[in-house]
Amino acid sequence: MNEEKIQSLKVPAHIAIIMDGNGRWAKKRGMPRTFGHSQGAKVVEQILEDADHIGVKYLTVYAFSTENWSRPQTEVKALMNLLRRYMKTSLAKCAKNNVRVRVIGDKSMLDQDLQDSIADLERDTAANTGIGFQIAINYGGRDEIVRAVRRAAEKGLLNDPGRIDESLLNDCLDTAGIPDPDLLIRTCGEQRISNFLLWQLAYSEMYFTDKSWPEFDREELLKAIDAFNHRERRYGGLIH
Ligand code: FPP
Repeated sequence: MNEEKIQSLKVPAHIAIIMDGNGRWAKKRGMPRTFGHSQGAKVVEQILEDADHIGVKYLTVYAFSTENWSRPQTEVKALMNLLRRYMKTSLAKCAKNNVRVRVIGDKSMLDQDLQDSIADLERDTAANTGIGFQIAINYGGRDEIVRAVRRAAEKGLLNDPGRIDESLLNDCLDTAGIPDPDLLIRTCGEQRISNFLLWQLAYSEMYFTDKSWPEFDREELLKAIDAFNHRERRYGGLIH
């Protein structure tokens, strides 16, 4: 896409991505599925940088779902190790690029050392003012809503049913304080939400591409943003 066209695009403030197809991409090349995940992790880092340069304010990626534990243990371990490595090595890069990291999902199920690294990275990037980068780990949309209700109950916020509203629940979600995604991208052909950000995607535009995640790049991101520019968002209202 040429520079003039890029400059003319309205950039979504928040993009969420379901990064699908790592396994299939690797298998097609006669490589183990875990190779696809390592390649996918590199793409995550590049797309974060590209999204930031294009002007995206928040990027949320689905790295590990509550259902992914049922994969072969070797694959689960490889994914956890990739995430471990990311938490440990990305701080310098985040500092340089002013990235603020937040992990969403039920962290209590993760190994203690991974929980500690996540806490360190979240704390050490909390004051950064650039792009907000949310990584969903052991994340399920329904699970997040259940945990939000539990959190609200623990805070005594559910005692008066008349005061329970959307903003109360919003503030108890893992994504509290982050605007809802404007655009959801899913790679590798599947066209479903798969329990990702169920609450937050209520009015998001959906973009599906056949490209697998390891093949996704800046040009593909720009194509998704261009498609977003051709949508008309009405939020249930009428065209003016
Ligand atoms: C889906 O592809 C992808 C995943 C379940 C894992 C995504 C994780 C990464 C890209 C690494 C995350 C790293 C960081 C730094 C956040 P799949 O394995 O289901 O592929 P398939 O549908 O072809 O089997």
